[in-house]
Amino acid sequence: MTTVMLPPGPSSSRTVQGVYALTVPRRGMRRLRERYGDAFTVNVPIFGRAVVISDPAEIRQLFMTSPDVADNLDRNLGRVLGPGSLFALAREDHHRVRKLLVPPFHGRRLAAYEKIIEEETVRELASWPQGRAFPTLPSMMRITLNVILRAVFGSEGAEFAALRELLPRLIKLGSRLAVVPVPKVDLGRWSPWGRFWAMRREYDAIVERLITRAERDTVLDEREDILALMLQSRYDDGSEMSRSEIADQLLTLLAAGHETTATTLAWAVERLRRHPAVLRALVEEVDAGGSALREATILEVQRTRPVIDLVGRQVKADSFQMGRWTLPKGYAVLVSITLIHDDESLFPNARTFDPTRFVGGRPDLYQWVPFGGGTRRCLGAAFAHREMHVVLRTILRDVTLIPTEDPGERWHSRGVANAPAKGGLAVVRRRTAATIPPSGATSAGARS
Ligand code: HEM
Repeated sequence: MTTVMLPPGPSSSRTVQGVYALTVPRRGMRRLRERYGDAFTVNVPIFGRAVVISDPAEIRQLFMTSPDVADNLDRNLGRVLGPGSLFALAREDHHRVRKLLVPPFHGRRLAAYEKIIEEETVRELASWPQGRAFPTLPSMMRITLNVILRAVFGSEGAEFAALRELLPRLIKLGSRLAVVPVPKVDLGRWSPWGRFWAMRREYDAIVERLITRAERDTVLDEREDILALMLQSRYDDGSEMSRSEIADQLLTLLAAGHETTATTLAWAVERLRRHPAVLRALVEEVDAGGSALREATILEVQRTRPVIDLVGRQVKADSFQMGRWTLPKGYAVLVSITLIHDDESLFPNARTFDPTRFVGGRPDLYQWVPFGGGTRRCLGAAFAHREMHVVLRTILRDVTLIPTEDPGERWHSRGVANAPAKGGLAVVRRRTAATIPPSGATSAGARS
């Protein structure tokens, strides 16, 4: 018999801990770390008894461990994205499907998406008002939705327009329901789950039509969209992905790739307007055709404003020896992205927004973890980074973001992703040769 060894933690009831986790998630985590150290045991709704970790060595061990020992959480996004979704699949099934999905997200393909990203950003910027405050999040949501739709399905059409209208509603409700138990009885078409399943049927019908049309396409092998690639891909045993698997997987990409990227971009606007020296340096870099500071800025926005708080695994083996701890089967292990990104010993002046810390270097992937890690690390990480890079480049090139003295926006949970509470407010002026600010025109200084 292995002896269980759990980190210490609060003894209050699951409800009390749940309320705490929901109302003050980041402050609550920091308090627990102050009190119990960098690992603690909690008992919260949804995850049950769980160990929260923020030590890089333990995070590394968790991400590197075999899926037979620790794999996806039992309560995962598969409940809203479907049983074929990568989020729902475990072990060998996950590995098999993930292998098929990697090619569309690799180097040469990513370069092909750049044109789409820039076109969608330019189109959206044309509607930005000048000289008055407006939230950028809705714009970022439209850009990222259109980009992922075009990457997934290729050309536009009637179905594309229908999905553009349907998906934001479907994903918004799905994000909220992701943490709500599925009722044991059908509560009818007006209940949240009833409305969700009705939208899901609508989605399935549209995707079914797109698949049928793609299968009849005589030049399918010349297409570069993800649907075409999926239809032509084969598992190692030569079999194809089924239609329902494809529908679940496409919804997974559309949902996972849309709101996370948009909320990060809205945070980028929120941060940059409060750090005029960084903003000015970024504009100068764009004008000179450079990119190093922009790359670093994206990393620093994701470090200081990670849109997902936690990445989790569940112990599947009888026990899991992780660093100082021995966890029993069934326990959830949650990596606190907030806590590790906040760690002064890893990121000096951690609360300060300072992109220069990443200039010329790459972050350690067990310390900088906004995309999770290991065999389940975000499939779209490189895609998202490229997208944020191009969107920011286009914004900095085409409009002047006016700095602000306002305090930083608070966090607002949208269910899965955390967004700036005011939607990343911006005030902009369209850039022309005459409005490009001379170096030193705005006040310098970095606030956290
Ligand atoms: C800033 C943007 C994004 C953030 C912060 C983000 C974050 C994450 C995180 C934290 C996970 C869980 C990783 C783990 O468990 O270790 C994840 C998984 C995933 N993400 Fe992203 N993501 C982003 C953009 C995207 C994009 C653009 C796509 C697709 C185009 C995408 C597709 C996925 C998929 C398919 C998974 C499941 C991977 C698996 O289970 O194998 N994500 N993402």
